[in-house]
Amino acid sequence: MMQTTEMMPKPAKQLGHRYEGIAKVTGKAKYAAEFSEPFPKRDMVYAYIVQATIPSGTILSIDRLSADRASGVIAILTPFNAPKLSQAPPQPPARRNLSLLQDTSVSYNGQPIALVVAKSLNEAKAAAALLKVRYAPKQAQVNFMERLGDARWPKNPGKEPAGNHRGDLQAAFARSAVTVENTYITPIQHHNPMEPHGTIAWWEGERLNVYDATQYISGVKMSLAKTLNIPVDYLHVVNPVVGGGFGSKGSMWSHVPLCAIAAKVTGKPVKLVLEREQMFGPVGGRPSTVNKIKLGASADGKLLAMQQDVVMNASVMEDFVEHAEGPTKNLYMSEANSVTSKIVEVNLGISTFMRAPGEAPGTAVLEIAMDELAEELKMDPVQLRLVNYADKDPSHDRPWTDKHLRDCYGQAAERFGWSKRNPTPGTMVEGNALIGYGMATAIYPANRSAAQAVVRMLQGGKMFVGSGTQDLGTGTYTIMAQQAAAGLGIDPKLVQVKLGDSTLPKAPVSGGSQSSASVLPAIQDATTQLKLKLADLAISDTGSPLHGLKTIDIDIKDGKLINKNNSSQSDSLVDLIARNGGKPVEAMGSAEPSESRDSMSSYSWGAVFVEVAVDKDTHMVKVRRVVGTYDIGTLLNDKTGMNQLMGGIVWGVSFALHEQAHIDPVYGRVVNESLAEYHVPVNADIGNIDVTVLNIPDVKFNPVGSRGIGEIGITGAAAAVANAIYNATGKRVREYPITPDKIMMA
Ligand code: MOS
Repeated sequence: MMQTTEMMPKPAKQLGHRYEGIAKVTGKAKYAAEFSEPFPKRDMVYAYIVQATIPSGTILSIDRLSADRASGVIAILTPFNAPKLSQAPPQPPARRNLSLLQDTSVSYNGQPIALVVAKSLNEAKAAAALLKVRYAPKQAQVNFMERLGDARWPKNPGKEPAGNHRGDLQAAFARSAVTVENTYITPIQHHNPMEPHGTIAWWEGERLNVYDATQYISGVKMSLAKTLNIPVDYLHVVNPVVGGGFGSKGSMWSHVPLCAIAAKVTGKPVKLVLEREQMFGPVGGRPSTVNKIKLGASADGKLLAMQQDVVMNASVMEDFVEHAEGPTKNLYMSEANSVTSKIVEVNLGISTFMRAPGEAPGTAVLEIAMDELAEELKMDPVQLRLVNYADKDPSHDRPWTDKHLRDCYGQAAERFGWSKRNPTPGTMVEGNALIGYGMATAIYPANRSAAQAVVRMLQGGKMFVGSGTQDLGTGTYTIMAQQAAAGLGIDPKLVQVKLGDSTLPKAPVSGGSQSSASVLPAIQDATTQLKLKLADLAISDTGSPLHGLKTIDIDIKDGKLINKNNSSQSDSLVDLIARNGGKPVEAMGSAEPSESRDSMSSYSWGAVFVEVAVDKDTHMVKVRRVVGTYDIGTLLNDKTGMNQLMGGIVWGVSFALHEQAHIDPVYGRVVNESLAEYHVPVNADIGNIDVTVLNIPDVKFNPVGSRGIGEIGITGAAAAVANAIYNATGKRVREYPITPDKIMMA
């Protein structure tokens, strides 16, 4: 069986444009909160979330007298009148601890505590401002850095254990010729996709329909059904395009059931869109991590011991672990290895997965430590990584499905001109700018889950493919069209794609960079089934040149069924469907990870090189160039694929230089809860990004040979910037973001 899956797959013909691109740029593509049918548009009413203004305590009362009388108000839901829910906990990744007005406790500043529904959004907002909330405040804990000693093991560490140890760590450190030991800090970050979270909910009797901005339609369906205690079959979730998710839309958050409850209470279709500031807390964020890292190596650079102890903030409402220790566990070979992850509870919103959860902060810290080790050893940073190259997965002691990271280092270094680097900091100068070169390794796991798809051969040579997956702007539509077309050898332009609808065959959450690796094999299976059905149709069709042949004798090529033994005998799919009255032929397909997955590890890899210019006086950093080469299996589409990697790199620059949620030390509110003050790079902050991929299929991972690419781009990039800043200035900043004040004070 393995032989068939390990054959090199033929790359599918690419769709030259983004499938939904024209609809998006012409405004025809409808995002979740833009729908105004099938209900009468004038029926729609608008909900606005009221948030707590204290970080911890109890709501004593809500005076709603003036709000109730305000213009346009239809309903006001508070903990004192909201419908009571049974709240059976849904399963992860959709499982979250929600704020659904079921009690009067306040766990963080910004928590939803009431909902105002009115005829217009402005009326809802105006009425919300009239609510007078009285609290009994409790002592709040908002600064976890002050309480690192209180760190505890997480109750729910996710799929990885929170601690992992191998070898004799102390003995290995004792034998090390060189050790480096430092603490590295990453900040709280918030996702902020361009499209905010938004939901439209309406009931048809017992049935609930929602348009929802989500990365996981079937997760929303299941979670809503459980939360509201209605049969899952009564739910319909639709979401044809997503304006970015990055993990924040991977779970169903409180506003979704709140919107559905408001629709039930009012008997109207309700629209609830989060305002930008409401995205900082109620829909998750990346926790801050404090990382004590110690590395020990022999004089020739061989890592003998690696240790990383992580402490992070977690909400008092729910444990969430950012597995920042991941790369230390398995990126390099080392004799002994020990990692731990602990949490400190704070009165902040719940943390969640954010682009490259674990590996983004993990590489950001480990790869600075590796740079420091290289310097201690007087060794080139690339050489240090080659000396410690892991030819198998060190943490599980098993082979990789594929790995060509050596080629990534080599090719990216060459393109970048790494050999021109002067390792002595401060020696490359251009006018008032100190120039620095830095590099780091990129790594992200290749994930895959069970998925299903449906395909149909239609009239006129057209084809349909559908799967209940999502397109976050990553290119899912585009590659689905390609895969379906490849199965019948037709032009991908002839394929209609449908996704983002919970009535379609089920697909997993579009998280963990797994959609292409999960959904495409299901489409491949579906087209294989379709091919057989079409062949059988031709065989039984007296009008077909292939009439009477055996199924096994029929192949498909360029949109034609052909006799394998006599290629002059063929039947085009256009003719076949036409002769059969234009009736579509349909097939279902499914795919899931093979059992051999448990005996192998799958990751994507990359090497990223950065040139910065640091102003001698202002210490402002300009990232002038980034060169990255990635081993991501098959590149499915040049345009959407490279776009994912570049976008990830921009996030890496943002991680390095810009992003941080500032928490008010008393009130516990995110102070910079807007896109004006939560800094992300603009065009002027980003220099030239030069990305290449090896494009070597990983057929042991899946039959299409592709691993995910949505997240790996951010990994490594932050540390490469940090290391370049050190090379430019001789200042080692170990706390992100690396702002000019930190460089000045280092
Ligand atoms: Mo990604 S953070 O797994 O949506």
